Amino acid sequence: MLVNLRPWKTEDLDELVTLANNKNIAKFMADVFPHPYTVENGRTFINFTKCNPGSKIFAIVHNDKPIGSIGLHLQTDILRKNAELGYWLGEKYWNKGIITKVIPKMVEFGFNNLDIVRIFARIYGTNIASQKAIEKCGFKLEGQFEKTLFKNNEYLDELIYAIRK
Ligand SMILES: CC(C)(COP(=O)(O)OP(=O)(O)OC[C@H]1O[C@@H](n2cnc3c(N)ncnc32)[C@H](O)[C@@H]1OP(=O)(O)O)[C@@H](O)C(=O)NCCC(=O)NCCS
Repeated sequence: MLVNLRPWKTEDLDELVTLANNKNIAKFMADVFPHPYTVENGRTFINFTKCNPGSKIFAIVHNDKPIGSIGLHLQTDILRKNAELGYWLGEKYWNKGIITKVIPKMVEFGFNNLDIVRIFARIYGTNIASQKAIEKCGFKLEGQFEKTLFKNNEYLDELIYAIRK
């Protein structure tokens, strides 16, 4: 499946909400990605992608239609040479090798365009798909913290993966 990255557009709102309103995605994301995912959540997100220079967020598209999202979030202060990577795909697009094609594009974009030397991702211990995908893209497990995250009334391990410029 041929996929590209492009900025989110206001017209993507309905498609975004259809994709994102899914508890199987939300359970692996921070609470800022809620379930249910409402039209208002979608509008706020698309506006955020347009108005925050510290976050470089792109729609993952197939034939220009959004199928997911990926973003780099620049850190501040003493962490300012780092960016956090986040991503998700609509559930019907899982397990087709899509994210392992897209992550390297985002890493290349980050190191070529941003003043950073390290890109990291924070992955739940329970999220095997994301761990496998990011390892395939050359990220290394740099740290593992036991039961630091509290999600859906459960304490979860936090795995920090990173890649260096
Ligand atoms: C994580 C996510 C983006 C993976 O995307 P994807 O395009 O399905 O991943 P890929 O198809 O590139 O698969 C990557 C690897 O993980 C494996 N994998 C995928 N789902 C798996 C699962 N549920 N359990 C075990 N392995 C799995 C694949 O087999 C592949 O490994 P392989 O090539 O050795 O077979 C997708 O599952 C998703 O959106 N999840 C919900 C949101 C999320 O977790 N975001 C990341 C937060 S850190």
